[in-house]
Amino acid sequence: MARSEALVVVDKVNKFFGDLHALKDVDLTVDRGEVVVIVGPSGSGKSTLCRSINRLEPISSGTITIDGEALPAEGKALARLRADVGMVFQSFNLFAHKTILQNVTLGPIKVRKMAKADARDRAMKLLERVGIADKKDRYPAELSGGQQQRAAIARSLAMEPKLMLFDEPTSALDPEMIKEVLDVMVELAREGTTMIVVSHEMGFARQAAQRVAFMDGGRIVELATTDRFFDRPDTERARAFLSKILAH
Ligand SMILES: Nc1ncnc2c1ncn2[C@@H]1O[C@H](COP(=O)(O)OP(=O)(O)OP(=O)(O)O)[C@@H](O)[C@H]1O
Ligand SMILES: [Mg+2]
Repeated sequence: MARSEALVVVDKVNKFFGDLHALKDVDLTVDRGEVVVIVGPSGSGKSTLCRSINRLEPISSGTITIDGEALPAEGKALARLRADVGMVFQSFNLFAHKTILQNVTLGPIKVRKMAKADARDRAMKLLERVGIADKKDRYPAELSGGQQQRAAIARSLAMEPKLMLFDEPTSALDPEMIKEVLDVMVELAREGTTMIVVSHEMGFARQAAQRVAFMDGGRIVELATTDRFFDRPDTERARAFLSKILAH
């Protein structure tokens, strides 16, 4: 069977938190090598969608497939599929009591059963790539926010994920650190990494994203090519949102 273009298919996904309808009939297909940026007001469901794609949140109905495989609810198959999805959050979620190098080698050794020396070699290459090889023996608290976030990206990449999810990876960073993280992400996009990125960094979206999804009230209310979204959004809601964030 020919490999389909689509890597991620979100199909009619609904998610409830009790009475709160957080995701409403969400459909989204992301092709291999594509970068989709998700924008939208606070509480619109952006993080919930990301967490659902990574199965950190169970969905209430609908299906999510990654590389043709439906995400199972639990068990070993879930752990394997979850390892296919790298995720970088707003808050730095490195293991505090492990060095940067240990943070990056842990998954490959424990989950992928990689030999320690190989995991170390690969980790060093990744740390070089994100520009923090000199920090390999430091602990997370000894790094700046931007460096920690780059370490988190290296740690995710070490698992060779099929998809990278980023949920506002720069929103907790000081301005001077934002660029160093975005630069790494732009480079990943150039190399053809499939990425779903929640971010209000419009420069990044313009530079790296093929499409932008605008969420409001639990729905994707607009999904358009990046140029189209910024130049001629279809919906009034997206226009209002854009004028607000571009005014900043
Ligand atoms: N664990 C939870 N339990 C109950 N309600 C939740 C939970 N997580 C999120 N919600 C609710 O679901 C809705 C969507 O939240 P979500 O975090 O996905 O929004 P968001 O678009 O990421 O917002 P932000 O831009 O502020 O990060 C919100 O109304 C939120 O309060
Ligand atoms: Mg969020």
